[in-house]
Amino acid sequence: MHDADPTSQSNYLQIATNHITFDWTVDFDNKVIIGTATHDLVAKADEVSEAIFDTSYLHIEGVKVGGNAVQDFTLGPKHEVMGSALRVPLPRTASAGSSISVEITYRTTANGTALQFLEKEQTQGKSFPFLFSQCQPTHARDLAPVQDTPSVKVTYSASVRSVLPVLLSARRVSPPSDGPAHDGKVIGKDEVVYMYDQPTPIPSYLLAIAAGNLQYQPFQVPEGKLWKSGVWSEPELMADSFWEFSRDTTSFLAAAEDIAGPYQFGVYDLLVLPPSFPYGGMENPCLTFVTPTLLAGDRSLTDVVIHELTHSWFGNGITHAHASHFWLNEGWTTYIERVLLQIIHSPAHRGLSSIIGYKALLDALALFEDKPKYQKLVVDFDYGENPDSAYSRVPYDKGANFLLHIERTLGGLEVFLPYVKDYIATYMGHSITTEIWKNHLYAYFQKNGGEVKIKALNSINWDAWLHQSGLDLPVKMEYDLTLANPANALADRWYESRHTMDISKLDFKASDLDNLDANQRAVFLERLESYNESLPAPHLFHLDKLYSFSKTLSAEIRFRFYNLVLKSQAAKHFVQEAANWVIGVDATGVIKGRMKFCRPVFRAMSKVDHDLAISTFRQAQTQFHPIAQSLIAQDLGLNLAER
Ligand code: BES
Ligand code: ZN
Repeated sequence: MHDADPTSQSNYLQIATNHITFDWTVDFDNKVIIGTATHDLVAKADEVSEAIFDTSYLHIEGVKVGGNAVQDFTLGPKHEVMGSALRVPLPRTASAGSSISVEITYRTTANGTALQFLEKEQTQGKSFPFLFSQCQPTHARDLAPVQDTPSVKVTYSASVRSVLPVLLSARRVSPPSDGPAHDGKVIGKDEVVYMYDQPTPIPSYLLAIAAGNLQYQPFQVPEGKLWKSGVWSEPELMADSFWEFSRDTTSFLAAAEDIAGPYQFGVYDLLVLPPSFPYGGMENPCLTFVTPTLLAGDRSLTDVVIHELTHSWFGNGITHAHASHFWLNEGWTTYIERVLLQIIHSPAHRGLSSIIGYKALLDALALFEDKPKYQKLVVDFDYGENPDSAYSRVPYDKGANFLLHIERTLGGLEVFLPYVKDYIATYMGHSITTEIWKNHLYAYFQKNGGEVKIKALNSINWDAWLHQSGLDLPVKMEYDLTLANPANALADRWYESRHTMDISKLDFKASDLDNLDANQRAVFLERLESYNESLPAPHLFHLDKLYSFSKTLSAEIRFRFYNLVLKSQAAKHFVQEAANWVIGVDATGVIKGRMKFCRPVFRAMSKVDHDLAISTFRQAQTQFHPIAQSLIAQDLGLNLAER
């Protein structure tokens, strides 16, 4: 089967990069990165006459092959998703196995989607500008000319000149992380050269850069561990960031090593980004990026850290070959994340996470009612189709449930975890397809269990799970309900009270929530949202008065509350408040740039008051990350200028 990456124009099957050397200068005044990317390539076939790189909105200044300038490189027409192919003719046709070096001098431009340069007002400290990247899935080509496919893995080294501290998804060579900030020079004024090295081959979507007034604080590492771990943030957020993550991060990583094997990236740092960061977390190697909305003050959102560090094996270690097999990254990571919840906390915690995931999955499947191909686990992307548009909980939760179903079919964790170790040992460092994964699964259980296990595997409806669309899972799954039960019971009591129109007769109290943690409160709100009939407006006002959901600083709770009330008769009452919250013109003071929060709220707002949704978005548009801008616009039916 021909299974080439449908999102890349590069000729990586003919010739592929092994290593990239970046030499960059960050120019905060002009909001660009200027420099060179030097590729060490190896031909995979005979008679290769050119190397083709993906680029998007890059200004190419010059190209050298083997140290000699070439004039006849070409930059192709701009494809809306795939960008412009940079074709570099090779002076001699290469034969399989031969090496070539290609140096490209270039600069990024303001239209690119990988980088967001923030004004100092958009940061916590309000004194220095900030820069960060988001390359997954196809934005690395907006940062540098690369073969932008997860099927190619490269090592990289970089030297970056900047007047603000620079972090990359790699190991710091100099100046030392734990030395004085900015090598003791004047922050914001003096140029410092930051040297990094990533000796483990990684796909291009894991290239990452951040620069700003960033400080470091190390965590204590369990005895015997050779890796280091710590947190980076602006100084104003350091105390909160350190408190939130210092207790758990290293023990989570140690727990993951127990089931997946040694951590191979040497450093596991967290970086707390400004509010426009569009995701909850991003598993950039050596340096997980996280949204500042994780700073809940009660360590209740550290599940995101478990998720991101689990990618060290699933995604960063074993990588999906291309967008169609994205579930191998996220489904596996989500499955193992929940196994870790069971090991670290209890089986009930695994159950609660599965229940929250299942609700998010049903919402995602319903949202794709008119786009059934995105309801499938393996998405058959057309050439040049945008994977950002397909992004949803489907690969996460259909994927995690599929693996849970296989685990249970084969006899539980005891049987499954040894297989997981073998899977990792076999494909660590490789980029694979669903078919390769499935063949290995069969081969493993043929060897370890024989006929009985093969029979069990054959009982699975592979086609339904992998290739069929639909509004639900192919199999009804059961989860541990211990922690969900009290939340559901409270919601059910509210629902039963809906015919009591005299609010003073209701016996709910603020303390009803005392024994529910953050995840259980989320389940409570979701249960209320799930009833066919919504609660009457007076009930919702009363509920909010008692539980203060419209005041909570937890974005996880607040967005669920708005989801609930914007679908009710109280919608008109709350719509302006939801608008203010999402763009931060309220007590929170910051936009909710994480797409998990802003996209549903904009969608719900637009159903209540479309004009308000549009004017709210327009008012704050440029504060959102370019990727979020384009997806919110798409959700609202707006036509932004093509990227
Ligand atoms: N790798 C993803 C984020 C991502 C996926 C960015 C696809 C761009 C394209 C990351 O690991 C992730 O899944 N983040 C989640 C965290 C959650 C599942 C705990 C998020 O941002 O919500
Ligand atoms: Zn993930």
